[in-house]
Amino acid sequence: MKIFAYGIRDDEKPSLEDWKSAHPDVEVDYTQDLLTPETAALAKGADSAVVYQQLDYSRETLTALAEAGVTNMSLRNVGTDNIDFDAAKALNFNISNVPVYSPNAIAEHAAIQVAALLSQAKVMENKVQKRDLRWEPTIRREVRDQVVGVVGTGHIGRVFLQIMQGFGAKVVAYDVYRNAELEKTGVYVDTLEELLEQSDVVSLHVPHIPGVNDQMINAETIAKMKDDAVLVNVSRGLLVDTDAVVAALDSKKLFGFVMDTYEGEVGVFNKDWSKNGLDDKRLDDLISRENVFVTPHTAFYTTHAVQEMVHQSFDAAVAFANGETPAIAVKY
Ligand code: NAD
Ligand code: COI
Repeated sequence: MKIFAYGIRDDEKPSLEDWKSAHPDVEVDYTQDLLTPETAALAKGADSAVVYQQLDYSRETLTALAEAGVTNMSLRNVGTDNIDFDAAKALNFNISNVPVYSPNAIAEHAAIQVAALLSQAKVMENKVQKRDLRWEPTIRREVRDQVVGVVGTGHIGRVFLQIMQGFGAKVVAYDVYRNAELEKTGVYVDTLEELLEQSDVVSLHVPHIPGVNDQMINAETIAKMKDDAVLVNVSRGLLVDTDAVVAALDSKKLFGFVMDTYEGEVGVFNKDWSKNGLDDKRLDDLISRENVFVTPHTAFYTTHAVQEMVHQSFDAAVAFANGETPAIAVKY
């Protein structure tokens, strides 16, 4: 059996080596290149491809992979919003993702950023760096005094909710499908609007479903939020109208913004702009603000998560190659 992997990064190689040692019967070949119509032929002769990228898995790309003889594709991440499922269906693709590799990685990142933002950590650090050691006016807001609104109570949202409760915050939650255990605790409100009206911190933990929840946070929904609220988007950039957030930061409607995912991130994040400067002036401006915490889609990026992403995706690739349906197959 042969598996061909695309987009393998150096930090994934130790996990890949572990996996290979445990599966000496499987031939593994890989490239650092992403899967594109041009690189699809590299997988020729493989039983399954293992992939991760933010570039689209377009009809053209999937067709090129199918022409190379590979229609089993295992993603090393959760999000499947960049797959042309109509094309995948027409080409009879088997697809898996890794829906749960470490909810804690993303939830913990969001929680750390919320606490840092409420603490005005950037403001204080910038003052200290300038040797301005005065207290005022950089006073902190304690997490336990906030009402934290969790939008989406799936794997990540639930861990985030628990961490916030650990800090002592009151939590309210909204989900189109409620979690039965959580429901017993009485945290749910009935509508997104209610959550926005009640929360000091609004944190998004939902998938982006094109045509369903594009820019669910926009000028209209921001207007429903409390004054001085904090918005957290560690889910998908397209859930948020960034221009509306910038306007709300300018008008001081929002106290701050935690942004790990950005609508313009493809081709921008995970690249070094330190020498030539960032072309995206809106992103450049957000990064420079003391009340905005930008990270380049690294909420997931922990040693624990990377190992799970590699191991689970390769296991699924083997299952597909054996004609089985892995538990993490995407139903579409
Ligand atoms: P999940 O599927 O376990 O949970 C998502 C929840 O959102 C579900 O309970 C679902 O019912 C709910 N939901 C869907 N649409 C909704 C809507 N319009 N309004 C309210 N609730 C809605 O997913 P998860 O593992 O918790 O991941 C959540 C999202 O986090 C992923 O879809 C992905 O976009 C994002 N993510 C980001 C990173 C990162 O590194 N920043 C990493 C992994 C996942
Ligand atoms: C996902 O798993 O869908 C993510 O958002 C993290 C990705 C950058 C690996």
